[in-house]
Amino acid sequence: MVGKAAEFHVKEPALAGKGQDRMEWAEHNMPVLRSIRQRFEKEKPLRGMSIGACLHVTTETGVLATTLAAGGAQVSLCASNPLSTQDDVASCLAVKHGIATYAIKGEDHETYYRHIESVLDSKPKITMDDGADLVSMIHTKRRDLLPGILGGTEETTTGVIRLESLASEGALAYPIIAVNNADTKHLFDNRYGTGQSTLDGIIRATNLLVAGLKFVICGYGWCGRGVAQRARGLGANVVIIEVEPVKALEAVMDGFTVSTLSEAVKSADVIVTLTGNKHVLRKEHFTAMKDGVILANSGHFNVEIDIPALQALSGAPRRLREFVESFTLSDGKRIHLLGEGRLINLAAAEGHPAMVMDMSFANQALSVEHLVRKGSSLAKGVYSVPPEIDREIARLKLASMGIVIDRLTEEQERYLNSWTEGT
Ligand code: ADE
Repeated sequence: MVGKAAEFHVKEPALAGKGQDRMEWAEHNMPVLRSIRQRFEKEKPLRGMSIGACLHVTTETGVLATTLAAGGAQVSLCASNPLSTQDDVASCLAVKHGIATYAIKGEDHETYYRHIESVLDSKPKITMDDGADLVSMIHTKRRDLLPGILGGTEETTTGVIRLESLASEGALAYPIIAVNNADTKHLFDNRYGTGQSTLDGIIRATNLLVAGLKFVICGYGWCGRGVAQRARGLGANVVIIEVEPVKALEAVMDGFTVSTLSEAVKSADVIVTLTGNKHVLRKEHFTAMKDGVILANSGHFNVEIDIPALQALSGAPRRLREFVESFTLSDGKRIHLLGEGRLINLAAAEGHPAMVMDMSFANQALSVEHLVRKGSSLAKGVYSVPPEIDREIARLKLASMGIVIDRLTEEQERYLNSWTEGT
């Protein structure tokens, strides 16, 4: 339904109550973001700021959006992936919180981009991206908005890579904080969040027993590591594919089998891509796979599996379960593709749990506050989250878990700061 007065485009406004209940559950598991919200409510550090956000529209994002609004911001929100929207949350944000939300699970390509344009029509002073589609659109079709933009944030590895490429061409037009690069983001969200939620998505989509299966994992970055650990924990035989020699060596010493893709695909039961690159799985691999293999992607874009090449090798796919499409090749072999090759953790499950998004989105909220304070003095470029914000989030998270850690003694502080003492 398209709402005029409140400006939103969501599937079904009547789902708002369900979204509210589920957001309450997420909020309960986001103590760091809750404490930031309490301060924002009092101090209103984002007063008068318009924020345009392109994020996965989930319960956790709902808690972030309402936190930004509590800080005085006007938030407009669209989805950062056509399949990741939770329709009840989109409705709740639009109907109960007055947040201009444009997101429908399963929206087509045209609607996806129309929703991004709707967010940009709010003339954001701050952009918040997950994958850099908002920034990309601003730098190509909506350059008229550039003079009004103070800065932006970016949530994910793929988005940071796109921004660095834009910056290296000298074309990035405003400062953007790479939230992904904060330790309290990628060491937890990418590793434990993606690790658990990817397995969750694969299991919800297929109802597989993981124990005893051969899981081939393409990419041993923080996300790939997380998935490898969790697949091993469920009893899978895990094989890692990695093109960077140092990471491949780490995978070996972490106890995994490391192989080439062309060799590994022959006996794989499940193949997961998390590389950030395109056409990782392509024609030469499809023809070498065994009957019944399952393919899933947990990288940001749906380009890691060359789906057009898979379609060209087979007839039209048959949908066997909600997120399982079965392609039959001319020799009768079946290849099962999960979630249209889109992020399986958000397509078939609920994305990362709130407990880990708590830290990612605390980084987002505090980075926005930092931009409001300092953005006008920052040059164009990609910035790290200030280290004091990163440490403060770790402190708050530990405190919320009831964990107390030691401090150095004065003697130890002095020792670390001097060069004179040796053996
Ligand atoms: N990315 C991965 N999981 C997510 C979640 N639960 N909410 C928003 N973005 C996410």
